[in-house]
Amino acid sequence: MAVPGVGLLTRLNLCARRRTRVQRPIVRLLSCPGTVAKDLRRDEQPSGSVETGFEDKIPKRRFSEMQNERREQAQRTVLIHCPEKISENKFLKYLSQFGPINNHFFYESFGLYAVVEFCQKESIGSLQNGTHTPSTAMETAIPFRSRFFNLKLKNQTSERSRVRSSNQLPRSNKQLFELLCYAESIDDQLNTLLKEFQLTEENTKLRYLTCSLIEDMAAAYFPDCIVRPFGSSVNTFGKLGCDLDMFLDLDETRNLSAHKISGNFLMEFQVKNVPSERIATQKILSVLGECLDHFGPGCVGVQKILNARCPLVRFSHQASGFQCDLTTNNRIALTSSELLYIYGALDSRVRALVFSVRCWARAHSLTSSIPGAWITNFSLTMMVIFFLQRRSPPILPTLDSLKTLAEDKCVIEGNNCTFVRDLSRIKPSQNTETLELLLKEFFEYFGNFAFDKNSINIRQGREQNKPDSSPLYIQNPFETSLNISKNVSQSQLQKFVDLARESAWILQQEDTDRPSISSNRPWGLVSLLLPSAPNRKSFTKKKSNKFAIETVKNLLESLKGNRTENFTKTSGKRTISTQT
Ligand code: GTP
Ligand code: MG
Repeated sequence: MAVPGVGLLTRLNLCARRRTRVQRPIVRLLSCPGTVAKDLRRDEQPSGSVETGFEDKIPKRRFSEMQNERREQAQRTVLIHCPEKISENKFLKYLSQFGPINNHFFYESFGLYAVVEFCQKESIGSLQNGTHTPSTAMETAIPFRSRFFNLKLKNQTSERSRVRSSNQLPRSNKQLFELLCYAESIDDQLNTLLKEFQLTEENTKLRYLTCSLIEDMAAAYFPDCIVRPFGSSVNTFGKLGCDLDMFLDLDETRNLSAHKISGNFLMEFQVKNVPSERIATQKILSVLGECLDHFGPGCVGVQKILNARCPLVRFSHQASGFQCDLTTNNRIALTSSELLYIYGALDSRVRALVFSVRCWARAHSLTSSIPGAWITNFSLTMMVIFFLQRRSPPILPTLDSLKTLAEDKCVIEGNNCTFVRDLSRIKPSQNTETLELLLKEFFEYFGNFAFDKNSINIRQGREQNKPDSSPLYIQNPFETSLNISKNVSQSQLQKFVDLARESAWILQQEDTDRPSISSNRPWGLVSLLLPSAPNRKSFTKKKSNKFAIETVKNLLESLKGNRTENFTKTSGKRTISTQT
């Protein structure tokens, strides 16, 4: 997502309308008639009886409970491509013939779609029995009976009214910046950004439904398989528009053969054997890739990336608009998602900070959707968690301390993945620092981090000597001999460090020199998200002046005090460390 330059904001003349000194809750501001914010307010309440309010809740349930519940909901749900104009009442009445409906919503993605959750799974069979496979004179349909339907009007009499549809993508940058400029404080800005970008209840439902539709296809080969979402779709750090990572879980299939039956015999399935787990994974994914490509309704652009470290099938699910990555034999990644889910749920500041850092990194092209030498969102999240573990008092516990609270031991492929799953066993932090302070300190901390010497380790929550010469070393929390940011080049790391310093400087400037209400300047988080903010222009010049002055001052000081100076080069910046 590209972020437009500052010119846009100045043209909008918005910042004059921003925060007043009187602190008012943002909700009240949003409800003032005639304000920009009101016009911008998204229709958060979709049609139908979907649960709302998800956005503000921090999940407190166990990850596995949440996953099972959502999967079960998804199995009772269908996806329907609808005519552009449709009467919602007639639509619901028609579908109710097949069984009672629990909830539904509409969304647009190159056409109008409805997601309909029935109360009972059996209703789907009735709907499928009342559905026919289309045939055209020119083409032949592959008769696959999925839960993805096409609804047509019988007598072509189009309805006049459009249904209200829920948004599946974040609002435009222009609108977002308007909202942010209108916030009352930097803390408000971070919370607004979170609220705007986080996955909505409907988007989450659509993600689980998409996995469930793919599971139906995989079940043709492996009837007991489960397709589970993982990564940012479920770890509470997902932004609207993020990819959908799926994990084909075949453990049930494997375990079924382990059922104990009494008697003198042991029955085994006749199977084909291959030389390694990796080859088995490649073969399974290869067949599923073919299946999705040839038979999967709405699955397009299927790519089999089988020689990657973690083999995967990548495709677009057209109807949901998700870019999907299907993997198997990837249980540790699912466990990492659970760990991040726990960290995201422990303190409301965690997600707000991660979202801002992710948006900041994207705005400055530090991250990219194309694989390469860039920092990934996963690595950035680890850096924020590590930083929050380093606060005093800590905002987040170390992974080792979560391990001591664990109810059960968990070992995956020889790696100790034990940590507490029950959120109520973890004590809340005593730290009361504001988001504004944390954001500034985050940039300062990593702007001056000794990346040349130290690694980041959330297991112990402290810096450690780097075991190799990778520019950025973030220890994989479960496969502890691996570096999750091995791909990051020195120049990308340097870019991150430079931008972090610059951003710390901008926030510091604002502390002393807050733009006045009438100054018409972007402020706070907006200044950080704009690549060419006016206060950035002066940064390089002021920064070099400031460093030069400080260097000379320190030199003189040390000569006076007869002290020894060590000039150490940390990540490209000359800093002085003084030993007395
Ligand atoms: P976005 O898709 O960028 O929003 O974030 P994401 O967290 O989903 O990242 P991504 O899609 O790249 O990866 C999905 C999941 O795979 C992550 O959440 C991690 O659990 C896991 N993962 C990604 N990269 C690595 C890595 O380098 N090492 C390990 N062990 N796991 C990774
Ligand atoms: Mg992802």
